[in-house]
Amino acid sequence: MGAPGSFFNRIFPRDGLHLVHSNYAVHWISQVPSSIYDEVGSSMNKGNITVSEASPPSVVKAFRAQFQQDLRLFLKCRSNEVVTNGHMILAVLGTSSMEPRLHWSTKVLSQAITNLVSKGLITKEKAHSFAMPLHFPSKEEVQKIVIEEGSFTIEKIETIVEDAASEVKDVEVRAEAISKAIRAGNEVLVSHHFGDQVWFDLYPELKQAILLHLKNEPVEMFNIIFMLKKIV
Ligand SMILES: C[S@@+](CC[C@H](N)C(=O)[O-])C[C@H]1O[C@@H](n2cnc3c(N)ncnc32)[C@H](O)[C@@H]1O
Repeated sequence: MGAPGSFFNRIFPRDGLHLVHSNYAVHWISQVPSSIYDEVGSSMNKGNITVSEASPPSVVKAFRAQFQQDLRLFLKCRSNEVVTNGHMILAVLGTSSMEPRLHWSTKVLSQAITNLVSKGLITKEKAHSFAMPLHFPSKEEVQKIVIEEGSFTIEKIETIVEDAASEVKDVEVRAEAISKAIRAGNEVLVSHHFGDQVWFDLYPELKQAILLHLKNEPVEMFNIIFMLKKIV
């Protein structure tokens, strides 16, 4: 069933759902935390559009807190809609560690944006005021939030690690496939900040950044899949 509206609000009637599935969506947080911006709107997470190893602790804390607040709200809203003993299966993109680490997909997009700054095609200020509302949680982080929120029990939680587009052997074709997937997922937010036209320059930079990344590092998709049962 499709339904309009944000999943951080009530969407469905009370006690109406027996099975809920959400795929690759709940790691999109409701907003970039406003506390990461200084008084002139510049991000304290300069050069990166999500949390990285180099992020100040206050930035790491702010993204974590936003994810925690959002997931709690998501669970609370769904708990009103799911029948007692009903199930919810969620799959999110996460990370293997609690340590802050730049996700490769946002690393390549950050790199592509930085390259456009170096070429004078966008200003440093414009780039530094951009961030993505994404948080890649660890399994432990998800477990803790679900247990503390208390509406659901965890029946099963698993992680599946796969390489993006690994079935494509030609590195150029693979980079193209990954670039298209990253563009599809991020296009609206990037266009909203930089304007639609940015993609003419950004897309080739993105593909180049992915090619470089593919030569040195894996493009790991760390999936966290959890099955919950409504208890209250
Ligand atoms: C990567 S796509 C996944 C789409 C689809 N579930 C799939 O697996 O192919 C992420 C989706 O999450 C949706 N999304 C993100 N935040 C949302 C929110 N607060 N409420 C409802 N949908 C949201 C986006 O609109 C987008 O369709």
